[in-house]
Amino acid sequence: MSNENFSVTPWEVKGKVDYDKLIIQFGTQKITPELKEEISKLIGGDLHVMLRRDIFFSHRDLDLILKDYRNGKGFFLYTGRAPSLGMHIGHLIPFIFTKWLQDKFKVNVYIEITDDEKFMRNQEYTLEQTRQWAYDNILDIIAVGFDPDKTFIFQDTEYIKNMYPITTKIAKKLTFNEVKATFGLELSSNIGIIFYPALQIAPTMFEKKRCLIPAGIDQDPYWRLQRDIAESLGYYKAAQIHSKFLPPLTGPEGKMSSSIPESAIYLTDDPKTVERKIMKYAFSGGQPTVELHRKLGGNTEIDVSFQWLYYFFEPDDNKIREIEEEYRSGKMLTGELKEILIEKLNNTLEEHRQMKEMAKDKVRLFKYDGKLATEMWNKIHE
Ligand code: TYM
Repeated sequence: MSNENFSVTPWEVKGKVDYDKLIIQFGTQKITPELKEEISKLIGGDLHVMLRRDIFFSHRDLDLILKDYRNGKGFFLYTGRAPSLGMHIGHLIPFIFTKWLQDKFKVNVYIEITDDEKFMRNQEYTLEQTRQWAYDNILDIIAVGFDPDKTFIFQDTEYIKNMYPITTKIAKKLTFNEVKATFGLELSSNIGIIFYPALQIAPTMFEKKRCLIPAGIDQDPYWRLQRDIAESLGYYKAAQIHSKFLPPLTGPEGKMSSSIPESAIYLTDDPKTVERKIMKYAFSGGQPTVELHRKLGGNTEIDVSFQWLYYFFEPDDNKIREIEEEYRSGKMLTGELKEILIEKLNNTLEEHRQMKEMAKDKVRLFKYDGKLATEMWNKIHE
């Protein structure tokens, strides 16, 4: 990674990511038009905006997942979240997409909430805090609209008893050397964080079907380890579908991150805050004066407001093309583009807040694992 001017790890994204180069670095596959066509045929309808626009752009074994689906073997979905004080709109990406996959393929979804990971990785947080955040983040995740009959949300510090047998088997297969090299750990790293990868890998083995993981590509190092050991434990190598990162407000480099408040719109931001942040911070691809802008037009490649609309806030393909043309030609000014985004964002956030309010009554439904007639469940309770 050192000879590139960007880097992607599970903890940090630096620079402007070249996603084609990342595919080569990480050894993953590009999602081809043929693969998209096949998905469209299997679901008998249109693709999600994030697939159409290559926000989900890379994969491993997605072709095998589709084959298992066609043959009636089926598959299951797994994704997760290390809880923080507040989720931002970038965090919605994997969950919105996972929900769409669940709707289309009617499969089980497992969602791991790693309150332990967050605690062990950050000196300043207490376990009580990360557990409290877990509850709040779970409400945000439920608000995305998962099917309670097919979705199991579990929190590591609570569910550990049931995960421990498979985690122990995984841990025995991984050496400190491998984990240290994969995650850049030090001899001085606490031993919790050394063990933790076994816990993130465990849910890929919750069923004896192939597992598909929708997530940002930053999580890839875990899956590389999983793929080295899965078959020796009698499970499938995990398949993945990777997304790009929603850029921070402040510019096209890096990713939106909860630890940099001016980079993010939080799910709790009220309409006034959204307006203020976008107007003040949203990095513009426009020209310095109106006159120049009318003449030269704006650059949609680096304009964060346009990028956010493109990622998913303007799912209508005709409308986004229109906005792109008008902005590039100079007909639309930066302020006008920002107004469009502010309205879309506030509508989405308002809807989310209402769904989150309703989620409070549903937590037990989502955390109840008895509904999942999986081998995991049977094994635990036999
Ligand atoms: P965490 O909490 O850092 O991130 C949760 C998910 O959000 C994605 N993500 C983003 N996607 C697009 N744009 C962004 N700006 C952005 N920021 C974060 C992440 O890629 C991730 O998919 N260790 C994990 C928790 C975990 C997990 C999993 C994640 C446990 N099991 C299985 C994915 C799949 C973590 O710290 O995620």
